[in-house]
Amino acid sequence: MGIEQPLTGGMDPSAGVVRVGDTVRRPAGRSAVCSLLLHLEREGFEGVPRFLGTDDEGRDVLTFVEGDVPLPPYPSWALTDAALQDLGRLVRRFHQATATFDAASATGWSGEWADPQGGPVICHNDLFPENVVFRGGHVVGLIDFAEAGPGRPFWDLAIAAQEWAPLHAPGARLHHPDDLDGVRRTALLAHAYGVDPERAEEFVDVIAEERVQQLGNVRRHVAAGAEPWASFWRESEGEDRAAADDAWLQDQRSALIDAIRAPGP
Ligand SMILES: Nc1ncnc2c1ncn2[C@@H]1O[C@H](COP(=O)(O)OP(=O)(O)O)[C@@H](O)[C@H]1O
Ligand SMILES: [Mg+2]
Repeated sequence: MGIEQPLTGGMDPSAGVVRVGDTVRRPAGRSAVCSLLLHLEREGFEGVPRFLGTDDEGRDVLTFVEGDVPLPPYPSWALTDAALQDLGRLVRRFHQATATFDAASATGWSGEWADPQGGPVICHNDLFPENVVFRGGHVVGLIDFAEAGPGRPFWDLAIAAQEWAPLHAPGARLHHPDDLDGVRRTALLAHAYGVDPERAEEFVDVIAEERVQQLGNVRRHVAAGAEPWASFWRESEGEDRAAADDAWLQDQRSALIDAIRAPGP
């Protein structure tokens, strides 16, 4: 076997994801995720890793998706309006490709970050820039399906809006410049995805709902002292940032609804 090159991008450098030639090896994941990747291959959905099997160390073997993955602090090429629109269209196609997946036959999804209501598509549930592949300034792929599971499409879009628009308060952002207009860009994402303008308010409600669940998870891990998250949260003043984000999002609620409801470009 060739040289093992550690891959970084997740918060946890001990996650054990490595590249070997054209493949990626990860600690064995959930069989539901393997079935999902095989389904996407059958559907001809490009831009996600193919599941190739298991190596003799019991790790999952996936294809390496060639391209660049933006790591924090996010580079400007990852934060263009065009990239955000690419992402909206790709997530839409991804959801459509999962609508024909027999989710009932696949059990054992990770529920932690997933939509508690379940739903008609499989959501990625971890749509951070670190899990998106670019080529030539365009979004071409999604990786890291460890948290995927059934959900409402708005659940994934809520995560993407939060992490790409971003929906963090200017002045309290860690990885994005303060001058990115999170409200305008959330609408751009929604329009590229094809969100029905009539459902703008519902989408903004799901953004709030997803945020409550996400913060609950983070606080539970921090309280349990799980590293590296506990140190990161403390050192980056996570509670202060969360309070600033909550207040800002509340303030922006009607502006967000109006922007999503307005006709797209
Ligand atoms: N199939 C893949 N193709 C290309 N790059 C990958 C692939 N899998 C992982 N990577 C790279 O490795 C990093 C970490 O892998 P990821 O699957 O996201 O693990 P983690 O669970 O640690 O977030 C990613 O951010 C990306 O840069
Ligand atoms: Mg990742």
